[in-house]
Amino acid sequence: SEDEVVNIVYIDKDGKEIKVRGKVGDNALYLAHRYDIEMEGACEASLACTTCHCYVLDDYFDKLPDPEEKEEDLLDMAPFLKENSRLGCQIKLTKELEGMKLQLPKATRNFYVDGHKPKPH
Ligand code: FES
Repeated sequence: SEDEVVNIVYIDKDGKEIKVRGKVGDNALYLAHRYDIEMEGACEASLACTTCHCYVLDDYFDKLPDPEEKEEDLLDMAPFLKENSRLGCQIKLTKELEGMKLQLPKATRNFYVDGHKPKPH
């Protein structure tokens, strides 16, 4: 129903805005995939990569629940980390997030935490 709809916007690497219509409970990674947006998600939302890294614009960042420790640890290893960085696969849509903009970083790094520790840069 319309009550469930949450419209959000992705901004791709080229700065192009892509408006999408999600619903409450959608995962921002899988929602991006449905619209062919280049948020990679190499580990399938299992908190073992940083390829779903994105920036949560404006005050929407504060509306999200705090990241769990594992997400924070991963983010520390993400290229182009900013204060408003989150892992897209950990973002679940709520009504409060109507109008949210998620921007993709210039690049992500594809690695798995278990087994391959990324080299320091
Ligand atoms: Fe790997 Fe989000 S898809 S942590």
